[in-house]
Amino acid sequence: MAQIKMTDLASPRFKANPYPFYARLRAEAPVCRTTLLRQRTWLVTRYADVLAVLKDERFVKDWPPKTRWLHRFAGPITRHMLNQDGADHMRLRTLVHKAFTRGLIEQLRARIQSVCDELLTQAAHNGRLELMHDYALPLPLTVIAELLGIPERDRFRFHTLSRSSLSASTLAGVVRSLPDQWALIRHLRKLIKERRTEPRADLITALIQAEEAGDRLSEAELLGMITLLLIAGYETTVNLIGNGALALIEHPQERARFEQHPALVESAIEELLRYTSPLDMASQRFAREDVNINGATIPRGDLVIAIVGSANHDETQFPEPETFDITREPNKHLAFGQGAHFCLGAPLARLEGQIALTTLFQRFPNLRLAQAPESLRWRKSLIVRGLEELPLAF
Ligand code: HEM
Repeated sequence: MAQIKMTDLASPRFKANPYPFYARLRAEAPVCRTTLLRQRTWLVTRYADVLAVLKDERFVKDWPPKTRWLHRFAGPITRHMLNQDGADHMRLRTLVHKAFTRGLIEQLRARIQSVCDELLTQAAHNGRLELMHDYALPLPLTVIAELLGIPERDRFRFHTLSRSSLSASTLAGVVRSLPDQWALIRHLRKLIKERRTEPRADLITALIQAEEAGDRLSEAELLGMITLLLIAGYETTVNLIGNGALALIEHPQERARFEQHPALVESAIEELLRYTSPLDMASQRFAREDVNINGATIPRGDLVIAIVGSANHDETQFPEPETFDITREPNKHLAFGQGAHFCLGAPLARLEGQIALTTLFQRFPNLRLAQAPESLRWRKSLIVRGLEELPLAF
């Protein structure tokens, strides 16, 4: 197989349907060598290998010394749990874990429902619905911003500042995104200062109090935590809702089952997570020592990318993986990762996806695409898979 360019894997055209290429990789080059950010990188695509990488402690998240300069430039917002291992990771995760347990998240049900209702009432009033901008983005952004305590005036600004770093797939792109990241840090510092003098019943205040109670959370860790929760909290769910709505519209039989049998909502969301890959790739890992995977030796210090979108379409794990079946059982997809870094926000993402899509299709039974599916624009990004816009008619 010819050398793979990571920029190709981040291109909008590729994102529209990456699955045939992933199937080829699984068959011909399941552990495949390439280059990312000028580093030797290995792409892992088979279900069993992706699972092994996610669970194997020899693959670590902390950056090796030769790449730490990137961290220093990006500043404190890279100092978060997703970039830490072992006890450091556990300490940070434990601080916020309780706020995201299923029981506590369930208490947000009524608020999530009312945000969905308000957004769709507004769309009905306007007579048009561009799903990404009008619904899929504002719902999870509002929910995570309210949980954290980010004022309404700052939300859209934070969103534009964080987006450029997610689109970067080259070193030049990462460097270009740095001024936005620095601006985000400045804004967050101001907000933290406000909360220190005026505490509120929100997660930012709770984290500040944890910091003040001892040396459990440094200012850099506080900034890293807030940024991670904010970005991970909506940039993924937006694509579950967008990709999910598109998949249901494109599969009328499954859509009819979804609309007629509300009890199927949980398994439908699991299948959408599997089938549409809101997050195509897990974040970076590095080999702590030489590691053998499926016959290939990954040398110590090399970067490894586990492609969960490919694992979720692996025919050895999922019979007829290209069939979208909202009653699929078993469905052990890896959309939320696995192991120590398993998605902290999975209960929130699931609940938001369930309520958002149920409400959307109930409210607009005639919902349909307002333009040909081939002309839909996908976002340029290495790790997320989502639409730029999804204009719908109702
Ligand atoms: C459909 C929506 C979502 C998807 C597909 C998703 C996917 C993932 C995946 C694959 C990982 C593991 C990455 C890795 O191991 O490299 C992860 C981690 C994480 N996710 Fe999510 N996520 C979603 C929603 C959320 C939400 C709503 C939150 C809310 C705060 C969140 C917070 C996090 C955090 C904090 C981590 C890091 C956990 C750790 O390092 O221990 N995610 N997510």
